[in-house]
Amino acid sequence: MKIAFIGDIVGRPGRRIIKDKLSGLIKEHGIDCVIANGENASHGFGLTVKNCDELLASGIDVITGGNHSWDKKKDMLVLLESHPVLRPDNYPSEVPGSGLKIIEVNGSKLAIINLMGLFCMPQVLNPFTHALELVDKLNQDGIKNIFVDFHAESTAEKRIMMQILQKKVSAICGTHTHIGTDDLEITKGTFYVTDLGLTGCRDNVIGMDAKVPVYKALTGMGGHFDVPSSCKTIMQIVIIDIDDNGDAIDAIKVKLFNNKENIVSSAVIN
Ligand SMILES: [Fe+2]
Repeated sequence: MKIAFIGDIVGRPGRRIIKDKLSGLIKEHGIDCVIANGENASHGFGLTVKNCDELLASGIDVITGGNHSWDKKKDMLVLLESHPVLRPDNYPSEVPGSGLKIIEVNGSKLAIINLMGLFCMPQVLNPFTHALELVDKLNQDGIKNIFVDFHAESTAEKRIMMQILQKKVSAICGTHTHIGTDDLEITKGTFYVTDLGLTGCRDNVIGMDAKVPVYKALTGMGGHFDVPSSCKTIMQIVIIDIDDNGDAIDAIKVKLFNNKENIVSSAVIN
Protein backbone atom coordinates (compact mmCIF):
# COMPACT_ATOMS: atom_id res chain seq x y z
CA MET A 1 0.00 0.00 0.00
CA LYS A 2 1.05 3.56 -0.58
CA ILE A 3 0.42 5.93 2.29
CA ALA A 4 1.10 9.65 2.45
CA PHE A 5 1.65 11.95 5.39
CA ILE A 6 1.38 15.75 5.41
CA GLY A 7 3.28 17.76 8.03
CA ASP A 8 1.68 20.28 10.36
CA ILE A 9 -0.98 22.20 8.42
CA VAL A 10 -0.87 25.84 9.54
CA GLY A 11 -3.99 27.96 9.06
CA ARG A 12 -5.88 28.88 5.90
CA PRO A 13 -2.81 29.06 3.62
CA GLY A 14 -2.06 25.43 4.56
CA ARG A 15 -5.64 24.29 4.03
CA ARG A 16 -5.80 26.11 0.70
CA ILE A 17 -2.69 24.49 -0.82
CA ILE A 18 -3.98 21.07 0.26
CA LYS A 19 -7.32 21.79 -1.41
CA ASP A 20 -5.49 22.81 -4.59
CA LYS A 21 -2.82 20.09 -4.76
CA LEU A 22 -3.73 16.96 -2.82
CA SER A 23 -6.16 15.29 -5.24
CA GLY A 24 -3.61 15.66 -8.08
CA LEU A 25 -0.88 14.05 -5.94
CA ILE A 26 -3.17 11.18 -4.94
CA LYS A 27 -3.81 10.41 -8.62
CA GLU A 28 -0.23 10.97 -9.78
CA HIS A 29 1.34 8.71 -7.14
CA GLY A 30 -1.46 6.17 -6.64
CA ILE A 31 -1.78 7.04 -2.93
CA ASP A 32 -4.16 4.75 -0.99
CA CYS A 33 -4.39 6.65 2.29
CA VAL A 34 -3.52 10.17 3.47
CA ILE A 35 -2.73 11.10 7.07
CA ALA A 36 -2.04 14.68 8.17
CA ASN A 37 -1.19 16.56 11.34
CA GLY A 38 -3.96 19.13 11.86
CA GLU A 39 -3.35 20.64 15.31
CA ASN A 40 -2.51 24.06 13.80
CA ALA A 41 -5.01 23.99 10.94
CA SER A 42 -7.43 26.55 12.40
CA HIS A 43 -5.56 29.87 12.39
CA GLY A 44 -2.51 28.16 13.87
CA PHE A 45 -4.20 26.97 17.05
CA GLY A 46 -6.28 23.80 17.16
CA LEU A 47 -8.82 22.39 14.71
CA THR A 48 -12.48 23.33 14.26
CA VAL A 49 -15.17 20.95 12.98
CA LYS A 50 -15.62 23.15 9.88
CA ASN A 51 -11.91 23.11 9.00
CA CYS A 52 -11.66 19.39 9.72
CA ASP A 53 -14.53 18.71 7.29
CA GLU A 54 -12.72 20.83 4.68
CA LEU A 55 -9.51 18.78 5.09
CA LEU A 56 -11.37 15.47 4.89
CA ALA A 57 -13.16 16.69 1.74
CA SER A 58 -9.72 17.52 0.23
CA GLY A 59 -8.71 13.85 0.47
CA ILE A 60 -7.24 13.43 3.96
CA ASP A 61 -8.35 10.21 5.69
CA VAL A 62 -7.05 10.58 9.26
CA ILE A 63 -5.89 13.67 11.20
CA THR A 64 -3.37 13.56 14.03
CA GLY A 65 -2.68 16.14 16.76
CA GLY A 66 -0.26 17.30 19.42
CA ASN A 67 0.21 19.99 22.05
CA HIS A 68 -2.31 22.27 20.29
CA SER A 69 -5.03 19.62 20.04
CA TRP A 70 -7.04 21.27 22.82
CA ASP A 71 -6.81 24.89 21.62
CA LYS A 72 -10.37 24.61 20.22
CA LYS A 73 -11.51 22.32 23.00
CA LYS A 74 -15.27 22.36 22.28
CA ASP A 75 -14.69 21.43 18.64
CA MET A 76 -12.03 18.87 19.54
CA LEU A 77 -14.38 17.02 21.87
CA VAL A 78 -16.87 16.70 18.98
CA LEU A 79 -14.14 15.69 16.51
CA LEU A 80 -12.73 12.95 18.76
CA GLU A 81 -16.22 11.46 19.04
CA SER A 82 -17.37 11.68 15.45
CA HIS A 83 -14.43 12.25 13.05
CA PRO A 84 -11.23 10.35 12.17
CA VAL A 85 -9.22 12.62 14.46
CA LEU A 86 -6.58 11.52 16.96
CA ARG A 87 -4.86 13.19 19.88
CA PRO A 88 -1.54 11.87 21.26
CA ASP A 89 -2.17 8.46 22.81
CA ASN A 90 0.15 9.06 25.75
CA TYR A 91 -2.21 11.51 27.43
CA PRO A 92 -3.50 10.01 30.70
CA SER A 93 -6.27 7.46 30.14
CA GLU A 94 -9.05 9.74 31.50
CA VAL A 95 -8.47 12.22 28.62
CA PRO A 96 -11.18 11.90 25.90
CA GLY A 97 -10.35 10.44 22.52
CA SER A 98 -7.59 8.15 21.38
CA GLY A 99 -4.21 8.23 19.67
CA LEU A 100 -4.70 4.93 17.88
CA LYS A 101 -6.87 4.23 14.88
CA ILE A 102 -6.99 1.08 12.78
CA ILE A 103 -8.35 1.48 9.28
CA GLU A 104 -8.78 -0.79 6.28
CA VAL A 105 -6.62 0.08 3.24
CA ASN A 106 -6.86 -2.13 0.12
CA GLY A 107 -8.10 -5.03 2.25
CA SER A 108 -5.23 -4.75 4.79
CA LYS A 109 -5.26 -3.19 8.23
CA LEU A 110 -3.25 -0.01 8.84
CA ALA A 111 -2.73 1.20 12.40
CA ILE A 112 -2.13 4.92 12.87
CA ILE A 113 -0.52 5.97 16.14
CA ASN A 114 -0.13 9.52 17.43
CA LEU A 115 2.34 10.16 20.27
CA MET A 116 3.80 13.27 21.90
CA GLY A 117 7.31 13.91 23.22
CA LEU A 118 8.32 15.18 26.66
CA PHE A 119 10.70 18.14 26.19
CA CYS A 120 8.80 21.50 26.11
CA MET A 121 5.49 19.65 25.94
CA PRO A 122 2.46 19.23 28.23
CA GLN A 123 2.73 16.61 30.96
CA VAL A 124 2.10 13.24 29.32
CA LEU A 125 2.99 9.60 29.91
CA ASN A 126 6.35 8.20 28.81
CA PRO A 127 5.99 8.05 25.01
CA PHE A 128 8.67 5.37 24.61
CA THR A 129 7.29 2.71 26.95
CA HIS A 130 3.80 3.63 25.75
CA ALA A 131 4.82 3.14 22.10
CA LEU A 132 6.35 -0.26 22.83
CA GLU A 133 3.22 -1.46 24.65
CA LEU A 134 0.96 -0.29 21.80
CA VAL A 135 3.11 -1.74 19.03
CA ASP A 136 3.65 -5.08 20.78
CA LYS A 137 -0.13 -5.41 21.19
CA LEU A 138 -0.71 -4.56 17.52
CA ASN A 139 1.95 -7.09 16.45
CA GLN A 140 0.28 -9.75 18.63
CA ASP A 141 -3.00 -8.95 16.87
CA GLY A 142 -1.29 -9.56 13.53
CA ILE A 143 -1.28 -5.93 12.39
CA LYS A 144 1.87 -5.33 10.35
CA ASN A 145 1.24 -1.93 8.79
CA ILE A 146 1.87 0.64 11.49
CA PHE A 147 2.34 4.39 11.03
CA VAL A 148 3.53 6.67 13.85
CA ASP A 149 3.28 10.47 14.03
CA PHE A 150 5.65 11.42 16.86
CA HIS A 151 4.90 15.03 17.76
CA ALA A 152 7.97 16.27 19.62
CA GLU A 153 10.28 19.25 20.03
CA SER A 154 13.48 17.32 20.69
CA THR A 155 15.34 15.80 17.76
CA ALA A 156 17.05 13.40 20.18
CA GLU A 157 13.69 12.10 21.44
CA LYS A 158 12.69 11.44 17.84
CA ARG A 159 15.92 9.55 17.10
CA ILE A 160 15.39 7.52 20.28
CA MET A 161 11.85 6.64 19.16
CA MET A 162 13.30 5.51 15.84
CA GLN A 163 15.80 3.21 17.59
CA ILE A 164 13.07 1.75 19.82
CA LEU A 165 10.51 1.11 17.07
CA GLN A 166 12.85 0.20 14.21
CA LYS A 167 11.78 -3.05 12.52
CA LYS A 168 8.52 -3.02 14.53
CA VAL A 169 6.65 -0.32 12.56
CA SER A 170 6.39 0.75 8.90
CA ALA A 171 6.99 4.48 9.40
CA ILE A 172 7.81 7.09 12.02
CA CYS A 173 7.31 10.71 11.00
CA GLY A 174 8.26 13.54 13.32
CA THR A 175 6.11 16.67 13.53
CA HIS A 176 5.79 19.84 15.65
CA THR A 177 8.90 21.97 14.88
CA HIS A 178 7.40 23.01 11.49
CA ILE A 179 10.92 22.86 10.03
CA GLY A 180 11.63 19.97 7.70
CA THR A 181 14.78 17.89 8.13
CA ASP A 182 16.54 16.10 5.27
CA ASP A 183 17.27 12.80 7.03
CA LEU A 184 14.73 10.58 5.30
CA GLU A 185 15.79 6.95 5.68
CA ILE A 186 14.50 3.42 5.56
CA THR A 187 16.26 1.07 7.98
CA LYS A 188 15.16 -2.51 8.71
CA GLY A 189 11.87 -1.82 6.94
CA THR A 190 11.04 1.33 8.92
CA PHE A 191 10.78 4.72 7.23
CA TYR A 192 11.93 7.62 9.40
CA VAL A 193 12.17 11.41 9.19
CA THR A 194 12.94 13.62 12.19
CA ASP A 195 10.50 16.33 11.11
CA LEU A 196 8.44 16.63 7.99
CA GLY A 197 7.99 20.41 8.18
CA LEU A 198 4.89 22.57 7.89
CA THR A 199 2.31 23.03 5.18
CA GLY A 200 1.39 26.71 5.03
CA CYS A 201 3.29 30.03 4.92
CA ARG A 202 6.99 29.52 4.43
CA ASP A 203 8.74 32.89 4.68
CA ASN A 204 7.80 33.85 8.22
CA VAL A 205 8.34 32.19 11.60
CA ILE A 206 7.02 28.60 11.75
CA GLY A 207 4.06 29.61 9.55
CA MET A 208 3.14 32.65 11.61
CA ASP A 209 3.49 36.34 10.75
CA ALA A 210 7.05 37.33 11.80
CA LYS A 211 6.09 40.67 13.42
CA VAL A 212 5.01 39.40 16.85
CA PRO A 213 7.73 36.71 17.28
CA VAL A 214 10.43 39.25 16.29
CA TYR A 215 8.97 41.90 18.64
CA LYS A 216 8.82 39.31 21.41
CA ALA A 217 12.43 38.28 20.82
CA LEU A 218 13.69 41.86 20.83
CA THR A 219 11.68 43.16 23.80
CA GLY A 220 10.76 40.15 25.91
CA MET A 221 7.14 41.35 25.71
CA GLY A 222 4.27 39.10 24.64
CA GLY A 223 1.69 39.16 21.86
CA HIS A 224 -0.60 36.86 19.93
CA PHE A 225 0.85 34.98 16.96
CA ASP A 226 -1.15 35.32 13.74
CA VAL A 227 -1.23 33.40 10.46
CA PRO A 228 -0.74 35.90 7.58
CA SER A 229 -3.69 36.20 5.21
CA SER A 230 -1.38 36.03 2.18
CA CYS A 231 2.09 34.58 1.83
CA LYS A 232 4.31 32.30 -0.24
CA THR A 233 3.25 28.75 0.63
CA ILE A 234 4.71 25.28 0.77
CA MET A 235 3.12 21.85 1.07
CA GLN A 236 5.34 19.08 2.48
CA ILE A 237 4.28 15.48 2.03
CA VAL A 238 5.96 12.08 2.25
CA ILE A 239 4.74 9.16 0.18
CA ILE A 240 5.71 5.76 1.56
CA ASP A 241 5.44 2.42 -0.20
CA ILE A 242 4.76 -0.44 2.22
CA ASP A 243 4.99 -4.13 1.21
CA ASP A 244 2.76 -7.03 2.33
CA ASN A 245 4.96 -7.62 5.41
CA GLY A 246 4.44 -4.06 6.65
CA ASP A 247 7.98 -3.03 5.64
CA ALA A 248 8.61 0.36 4.04
CA ILE A 249 10.40 -0.32 0.76
CA ASP A 250 10.52 3.11 -0.84
CA ALA A 251 9.72 6.69 0.17
CA ILE A 252 9.89 10.17 -1.30
CA LYS A 253 9.23 13.63 0.06
CA VAL A 254 7.63 16.23 -2.19
CA LYS A 255 7.88 19.95 -1.42
CA LEU A 256 5.32 21.88 -3.46
CA PHE A 257 5.86 25.63 -3.73
CA ASN A 258 3.17 28.02 -4.93
CA ASN A 259 5.61 30.03 -7.05
CA LYS A 260 8.43 27.73 -8.07
CA GLU A 261 9.16 24.16 -9.10
CA ASN A 262 8.52 21.26 -6.77
CA ILE A 263 11.46 19.53 -5.10
CA VAL A 264 11.39 15.75 -4.70
CA SER A 265 13.85 13.91 -2.46
CA SER A 266 14.20 10.16 -1.81
CA ALA A 267 14.80 8.27 1.40
CA VAL A 268 18.20 6.63 1.85
CA ILE A 269 17.69 2.88 2.08
CA ASN A 270 20.11 1.39 4.63
FE1 LIG B 1 2.85 21.12 18.01
